[in-house]
Amino acid sequence: MKILVRAPSNIALMKYMGKKETAGNIPDNPSLSMTLNSLCTYVNMDLQEDSTGQFRIRTGFDDSAKGLDYSRLQIPELKGAGIEKMERHWKRITEAAPSILKEAGLDPRPNGPASVAVQTANTFPMGSGIASSASSFAAMTIAGLVASAADPSKLQELWSSKDSQASVAMKRACARISRQGSGSSCRSFEGPFVEWNEESASVVQTAMPEMSHFVVVVSSTEKKISSSQAHQLVKTSALWNGRVARVTERFHALKVALAVGDIAEVSRLSWTEMWEMHSLFHTATPAFSYWEPGTIHALRSFAEDVLSENPPIVTLDAGPNVHVLVPKSEREHWLDILTERFGAEALLSDGQGTGAEILEVFN
Ligand code: DP6
Repeated sequence: MKILVRAPSNIALMKYMGKKETAGNIPDNPSLSMTLNSLCTYVNMDLQEDSTGQFRIRTGFDDSAKGLDYSRLQIPELKGAGIEKMERHWKRITEAAPSILKEAGLDPRPNGPASVAVQTANTFPMGSGIASSASSFAAMTIAGLVASAADPSKLQELWSSKDSQASVAMKRACARISRQGSGSSCRSFEGPFVEWNEESASVVQTAMPEMSHFVVVVSSTEKKISSSQAHQLVKTSALWNGRVARVTERFHALKVALAVGDIAEVSRLSWTEMWEMHSLFHTATPAFSYWEPGTIHALRSFAEDVLSENPPIVTLDAGPNVHVLVPKSEREHWLDILTERFGAEALLSDGQGTGAEILEVFN
C-alpha cells in the first residue's frame, strides 16, 4: 500500500521563543501563527501490510503520486542526527497512535504499526528560514498515525471531515505528539490561525479576510544557529527579563485584533513582536543574528508600509527572510510592489491553509 500525506509550514505572528526546561517542548509563552498552504512537506510512504514495526527513511521521492509538481520538490538530505530524531519521533507517534485512533472510533492495527519506508520532500528550499521542522514533524506525525491504523482509508475519511468533532480531537491529539518532536509543528494541524498554549494547539476564530503570503527570500544559505539553540540562548539576554509577560499581553491583544479583523493592529503587534524576538538574538551571550544585508534593506522598506493606513503584516522567523501577509483581495497590488522592490526571483508566494492532510491511500 502507498500513502501520501502532507503538512504545511506555519508563520508565527507571536513567537514561540524560549521553552521550559522539562522535556517535550513546553513553551515559555503562548504563540499564534497562520497556517500556510503550498509551502509544505510531503511524505510518501510504502506500507507493508503483512509486517510490523520497521521504519526506514529512503532517499529520493517516487513520482507515483498524482497531481504533484515534482519539479518544485526539494529533497532534504537527512543526516545521522536528523535521521535519529525522526526515528525517535516515529516511535513516539506509533506508541501514542492506538489510543488516538480508539478515541476517534477507529481500530489500530492489532500487531502494532506496519513496516514502512518513507520519503520526504519539501516545496521550499532548506534553510530558507521557512520552518521545515514544523512541516516535516507534522507530516511524519500524520504518517505514523496512518501506519498504525487498521484501515487507512477510513482514517483518511475521518481526517478530511472538517466539521466532525472526532476529527478535530484527533488532529489536536496528533498536534500534542508532534509538539514533542518540534514545538512549532503543533500549529500545522489546523488553520488558518492557530494558537498554542502550554501543551495544546487549537484553531482561533477570527474575522480576518482570506490572506495571501509572500516570502522575500534574502538568502537561502543554511542557518548557523538552529532554532533549538536560539530557544536556549535568548535566556542569556538582558532583555529576557519581562519577555514572557510582554509577549503574553501582546498575544492576548493579537487574539482580540484577529477576532474583529483589525489588520492594522495585527500588523503593529506582529511587527513589534518580530523586533523583540530578534533583539533577544542580538543581545544574547554570545550575540547572534540571522540578518543579512538584504534583511535590513527589506525591513527599512517595510517600516514605512507598516505605518500606513492599510499596512501589510510583516514578520521574520529565525531566519533572514521576510514574510509578508496581505488580504488575498490585495495580492496583485502587493505582488507588483514586491516584484519592483526585490525582483520576481526573490519571491515565494503562498496563502493561508487548513493544516495537515492525508492525500492518497492506494493499493
Ligand atoms: C522562531 O519549533 O523550530 O520559528 O521545538 O526546538 O524544534 P524546536 O523549535 P522550533 O522553533 C520555532 C521558532 C520560531 C518561532 C515560532 O515558530 O513560533
